[in-house]
Amino acid sequence: MTGDRPPARHIVVMGVSGVGKTTVAHAISELSGLRFAEADDFHTEENVARMRAGIPLDDADRWPWLRDLASWMAARHAEGVSTVLACSALKRSYRDVLRQGPPDVEFVHLDGASELIRDRLTRRTGHYMSAGLLDSQQAILEPLGPDESGIVLSAEPPPDELAMAVMTRLGLPSAPPSIGPAGDAPG
Ligand SMILES: Nc1ncnc2c1ncn2[C@@H]1O[C@H](COP(=O)(O)OP(=O)(O)OP(=O)(O)O)[C@@H](O)[C@H]1O
Ligand SMILES: [Mg+2]
Repeated sequence: MTGDRPPARHIVVMGVSGVGKTTVAHAISELSGLRFAEADDFHTEENVARMRAGIPLDDADRWPWLRDLASWMAARHAEGVSTVLACSALKRSYRDVLRQGPPDVEFVHLDGASELIRDRLTRRTGHYMSAGLLDSQQAILEPLGPDESGIVLSAEPPPDELAMAVMTRLGLPSAPPSIGPAGDAPG
């Protein structure tokens, strides 16, 4: 049956702060053509103001945000558009909300040693990263359960290598080369 598109896929790159979610999700998007989104960009102005004021979000602040992310994936699914979302999704209950969006959500847990992540965060900000914040994220993290769809990868390799590994493990096709007026290929 020509013209039938395969069903859209929805990938969430999860893990603690600084492990490389945004970088790797973006690389997956570049290589596979999946529509990229950054979960942080979906926060309400109220949540952003809280975070700017250094007030940690509690779960009550997170539910509407997670529901918005689920709705975004569901809306893309209805359009036949596959997505890759960078979202910490540390708790199973958060992932349960995300799973209420499209029919299937596949998680990619980037897992790294505290030293590796602390080094990345320090390089990114140029400031010493408080051990406490990372430790608290590691403590909150609930790894994927055996009944949850997804994979765990060491966060250590370079971003493009990780993106390729995700595509291979999940069987995601490469982006077709862009052609025609809408394409952005050089020349
Ligand atoms: N695989 C990698 N190898 C080397 N450096 C990396 C890798 N992935 C990310 N980095 C670097 O580590 C830092 C943190 O990465 P990134 O911002 O993608 O993490 P994050 O998980 O999205 O963090 P946050 O939760 O704070 O949004 C960045 O400076 C990024 O360039
Ligand atoms: Mg990020």
